[in-house]
Amino acid sequence: MNFINDQHTNTYPQAFLSDVLTGLSKPNRYIPPCWLYDTVGSKIFEKITDLPEYYVTRTEVKLLHEIALSFSQIIGPNASLVEYGAGAAIKARIFLNALIDPAEYVAIDISFDHLEQSLTELALDHPDLRVRPLAGDFISGVMATSLDSETQRVGFFPGSTIGNLSNDEISTFLRSSRDYLGDDAYFILGADLRKSSDILIPAYDDAQGVTADFNINLLKRINRELDGTIDSSQFSHKAVWNDELSRIEMHLESLEEQTFEVAGQSFTMSKGDTIHTENSRKFQRPELDKLIQENGWKMVRYETDKDAYFSVMLLKAHQ
Ligand code: AVJ
Repeated sequence: MNFINDQHTNTYPQAFLSDVLTGLSKPNRYIPPCWLYDTVGSKIFEKITDLPEYYVTRTEVKLLHEIALSFSQIIGPNASLVEYGAGAAIKARIFLNALIDPAEYVAIDISFDHLEQSLTELALDHPDLRVRPLAGDFISGVMATSLDSETQRVGFFPGSTIGNLSNDEISTFLRSSRDYLGDDAYFILGADLRKSSDILIPAYDDAQGVTADFNINLLKRINRELDGTIDSSQFSHKAVWNDELSRIEMHLESLEEQTFEVAGQSFTMSKGDTIHTENSRKFQRPELDKLIQENGWKMVRYETDKDAYFSVMLLKAHQ
């Protein structure tokens, strides 16, 4: 096995606890979406990507296949591909196959166990590639490990995970990745685009209830890991289209008045109160241009599928 297991820090239980306690204490209860992805959540998310209603992954993967060679020509040889939020690393494989003699693949993900397994498989398929897993939060956890200075750095942030972030978080992320990857870096960025709510709502509230399970798993995870006493059957999954902010919001709605504990702290919710668990923003080109240009990058290519459901962009660090 040729991957270097160089970081397995475990500060996350503390961070999870504080995000949950803080989030449940606010008048607009909000728990950041990164906590949806424990081992169980990551498995359910993989099922989501196969749902007929969830056009996102399918559309992006097809587009990545279409553009991988032309982006790879621009990027050139000896790339170090640094993926933020890697998960199963399926999309990185498309680029690793297209890139000319790639040198290194650095995969950053919150769920380390999940990552380790997919990387073992990847390393077997690419014997000459250095494969490095890095467990951590992709906004802050990155700087700890240095990259090989001889490689052409390429950031990779597919899946429209950028849509989970606020504008401030996007700015921080784009700037810190620009600093981390360096002056000559490229960046491949995927972003889901604005479209009719008739398509969006079913994509986040599917007929089989897989997305509902994904959302409800957060409550079960709180029970498992934070000594919670939440009756998850007293909650229902809701996907709401917020037109003004151009985003799908996931919520967990309390079906009854209820009181529960998390780590010994008591919380009460009335019937109809919700816990907001995720924003999935749907972008338009001018917003993307602005965010990219204001945070250290310039747009080299902007590609979409034929329906303009999804975009994949090639960025280059601004000098
Ligand atoms: C992994 C963040 C891209 O926002 O579409 C899917 C997560 N949430 N269904 C998305 C998700 C509910 C997904 N991202």
